[in-house]
Amino acid sequence: MYIGVDYYPEQWPGEALDRDIERMIDMGVNIVRIGEFAWHIMEKAEGQFDFSFFDNVIAKLKEKGIKVVFGTPTATPPAWLINKYPSILSKDEDLRTRAFGGRRQYCFNSKIYYDYTRNIVEELVKHYKNEENIVAWQIDNEIGHEGSDMCYCEQCHEGFKNFLREKYKNIEELNKAWGTVFWSQTYNDFNEIPLPLKTITYHNPSLILDYNRFRSKSINAYVNFQLELIKRHKGENQQITTNIAGGFLDKHFDHAEAVKDMDFASFDNYPVWGGLKEPIPPCAIAACHDFIRGLKEKNFWIVEELMGAQGHTVIGYLPRPNQAKMWSYQAFAHGCENMLYFRWRGAVFGTEQFCFGILDQDDKKGRKFNEVKKLIEEIKPFEEVIKSDIKADVALIYDYENIWAWKIQPQSSAFDFNNEVMRLYAPFYSMNTHIDVIPSSKDFSKYKVLLVPVMMISDESVQKKLYDFTKNGGTVVLSFRAGIKDRNNNLYLGETLPCAFAELAGIEIHEIESLQPGQFVEIEGLGKYKGIKGNSEVWRDIIDCTTAKSLFEYTDTFYKGKSCITLNKYGNGNVYYIGSGVDVNIVYLLAKEIVENNDLDYIETPLGVEAYSRQIDHKKYVFIMNHTEENKKFMDINLKPYESMIIEQK
Ligand code: GLA
Ligand code: ZN
Repeated sequence: MYIGVDYYPEQWPGEALDRDIERMIDMGVNIVRIGEFAWHIMEKAEGQFDFSFFDNVIAKLKEKGIKVVFGTPTATPPAWLINKYPSILSKDEDLRTRAFGGRRQYCFNSKIYYDYTRNIVEELVKHYKNEENIVAWQIDNEIGHEGSDMCYCEQCHEGFKNFLREKYKNIEELNKAWGTVFWSQTYNDFNEIPLPLKTITYHNPSLILDYNRFRSKSINAYVNFQLELIKRHKGENQQITTNIAGGFLDKHFDHAEAVKDMDFASFDNYPVWGGLKEPIPPCAIAACHDFIRGLKEKNFWIVEELMGAQGHTVIGYLPRPNQAKMWSYQAFAHGCENMLYFRWRGAVFGTEQFCFGILDQDDKKGRKFNEVKKLIEEIKPFEEVIKSDIKADVALIYDYENIWAWKIQPQSSAFDFNNEVMRLYAPFYSMNTHIDVIPSSKDFSKYKVLLVPVMMISDESVQKKLYDFTKNGGTVVLSFRAGIKDRNNNLYLGETLPCAFAELAGIEIHEIESLQPGQFVEIEGLGKYKGIKGNSEVWRDIIDCTTAKSLFEYTDTFYKGKSCITLNKYGNGNVYYIGSGVDVNIVYLLAKEIVENNDLDYIETPLGVEAYSRQIDHKKYVFIMNHTEENKKFMDINLKPYESMIIEQK
């Protein structure tokens, strides 16, 4: 397996290289990633290609047996290019041009950028075609991150109109689909269609959803353009990937589509960044890994794993001793097979002086160096375990178009899509069940339980899959606003909510209420949950059961006796409907019932301890992570603060 670092040899005096390589070897490194921001070094003026700097670096790494991931440098176009063609720069919602100086300022629809991308990528890949020491190409760097997925320039406007022409063929179709008769927005020609720029009140939700689709298509077209170039010129054994940044569900491109034709997906794992006072919760980190694994339904790489504190202008929480090491274990547990740390040494100049690496500016081996070295020694014997496939009985299903529709109309100012994902994911995580996070386009049949958070928009094909899955004995958990909209982002005329899922869930919804931040309603259990009370927030569907039975109901004057959570038997399966943002503690009770009824593998652990199992033939292994700063005891092992390990279970 590969363990390594992100290395920027261009940022250090030439004599640093030999000593760095020596210390990398001492730490146990066998791979480095280079090149992803070094366009100017490789093409300092138009057409003047020169790869000698990296030839030397790669030769030295090769001498010591260190392999290379090479990044295409397109996240940082050089000044000469931007000065010659300012139209490459993207524009924000206020039509302000993103200036040269940061990174990723290019517009995904710039034809000129395509041309210059072609030049540098072709030259680069051809140059290293026979370099067997390069084992993988990384396309760009964190595509679409830091707001770069959105652009409102003229090129994008033209592209959008063409996208609509292709999709609707004639303008009447578009008018019908979007309901443009509303507010006199009927178009006579595709040329009249605006970008969703700032206006008074809001744009048509169908238009914005189509703009999101167009963004996704534009971004993925550019990714695929690079992919095809690399494929055409690369050496046979060189693989292709791209590094995916966190915050995926907030982005405007379909990630599974982006990596579809690549050899593997890569992730940049930063459990804490910028001014955060503390890391994101362990379950949220786990969900990220499960999401990345779900993109190609196989194990993945991490090409940037945090070791030190990070931030551009503001720095936050310092990972405690052994905490970042524990995050590495957690990543391996959830399907990371090869890992590179960001970064070998913190830079002394430039925007990222405070993105700390394994070494700091004092250039001495310290606590972080020893932690990584120890980790590499510890995991070596478990290579086969780390590379083994993960089998999950539970899947959490998402659909980008649905996420965008929620962004367009959150319906409550307390709504956050990520929170609704975690509301269903976290209770299953806390029981240490394996969960795949997958797009709704994938096959569901291998699972026993499907978690379907707030699926406001879904295809008929997805609905059919859910009905079939349940008929065949599966358990589905739906949450509020499920099934209410069509693919145009419009409501259904003449259908009772939750429309597409009314029969599946065995319920009808005639009244709804949006709850604002800090507003809660009380719910109370029935039957086996009698006496259990809890709060719910964000939203409430006020439910009448048709064939379902009520598990929890509201207690307030007017809606007393109306259901909040229901369970329906459908075919051989079960459908839970959670009509509100209910306490995770209550979702946990349902999760426990589901785990027990479906005989799912789970492991009981003390609070803050995560255990993730793997099976190879008849041998069972457990990854153990203590996510707390306290001593914990699990399986007769005394775990120190942030201690992590892999053990074979006898
Ligand atoms: C991202 C980028 C890196 C670097 C780090 C800093 O993940 O890919 O280039 O900016 O963050 O933490
Ligand atoms: Zn643009």
